[in-house]
Amino acid sequence: MKDNSCIGVFDSGVGGLSVWRELVALMPNESTVYYADSAYCPYGPKTQQEIINRSSKIVDFLLQQGAKLIVVACNTATAAAIDYLRANYSIPFVGMEPAVKPAAFNTKNGKIGVLATKGTFNGRLFLETSNKYASDLHLEIQVGEGFVELVEAGELDTDNAERIVKASVIPLLDRGIDQLVLACTHYPFLCETIKKVSAGKNINIINPAPSVAKQACNLLQQHNLKSSDNRKSTHHFYSSLDTKVLQLLVDTIVEDNTYKFEVKSL
Ligand code: DGL
Repeated sequence: MKDNSCIGVFDSGVGGLSVWRELVALMPNESTVYYADSAYCPYGPKTQQEIINRSSKIVDFLLQQGAKLIVVACNTATAAAIDYLRANYSIPFVGMEPAVKPAAFNTKNGKIGVLATKGTFNGRLFLETSNKYASDLHLEIQVGEGFVELVEAGELDTDNAERIVKASVIPLLDRGIDQLVLACTHYPFLCETIKKVSAGKNINIINPAPSVAKQACNLLQQHNLKSSDNRKSTHHFYSSLDTKVLQLLVDTIVEDNTYKFEVKSL
């Protein structure tokens, strides 16, 4: 059992906070260090090598901060870099998996919509997950065009957000889906707007973040890395750009946000 170490979490930007929120809810005694790579966001259109390079730099930094386990709280970085990270670093990594499995389990009409970035759809993980769980179902895929940029700007429920969300969600609804998988960690912050746009359609929205937090908890247990129950946790947030939106979103998650926020270029 290590008591001075933390869970490292990173994303191309602020979206991974949708996973961080579940981690701290499930493991209140664990300290965390979060890195938002907002200066390099979005990762979606980047090459695999570019994402591997950024992810390695961030992992090196998180290790310096005492990370005992790292959550790659980004579907795009998971798709592009998690194999590389697992092969080159000795600590455990938890990645994001598009939640096609629960969608396949829940669907009544066999039509599942998936919203993600281009990078996630092009990755091997998405192909494998779809083949494994949805080969006999209709999988309707759609890039959430402009969604990541909205969340990075802290624009979650404006008229502009609604217009942008509509443009990608309506085509999925028109194809008759009854499950909507949010396969990008930024997208849960637009959940209220997605609900508004899909009102009356009886859509089940699936956010994989709670299962990712459970997986992180199981791995800590397996590796005997859990913090002791009486430990007071600390949370540090770093951004490669600026910390304004990071702070704003953490404010929406915790009641008393007195955490440390810093700009850190890597
Ligand atoms: N949060 C990232 C993800 O889950 C956003 C991707 C991006 O930066 O394009 O994929």
